[in-house]
Amino acid sequence: MMKMYRCRICGETFLGSEAPSHCPFCGAHRELFVDTSEYPEDINAVDLTEVERNDLMETIELELSNTRFYLPWPPTATT
Ligand SMILES: [Fe+2]
Repeated sequence: MMKMYRCRICGETFLGSEAPSHCPFCGAHRELFVDTSEYPEDINAVDLTEVERNDLMETIELELSNTRFYLPWPPTATT
C-alpha cells in the first residue's frame, strides 16, 4: 500500500510503501519521516511582519522568473 511520507527536517514528501532510508532532498534518516496523516498542519505556520512578507513575495517572484532559464533558445526551437 502506497503512503505519503514527509520529512520533518525539510518538508520533502515521498510516496512509497515505506519511508525512504534517507530524505532525497536533505539526507535526513528514515526516522525523521512521518506519515502525512500524522504531520501537524501548523508545523510550518509562522507570523510574518509586513517587511518579511514583502521580502518573501519578492523572492517567490524572482524564483518564478528564473524558470525562463530552462526554456529552449531560441524560443521557436523544439526538443
Ligand atoms: Fe528532508
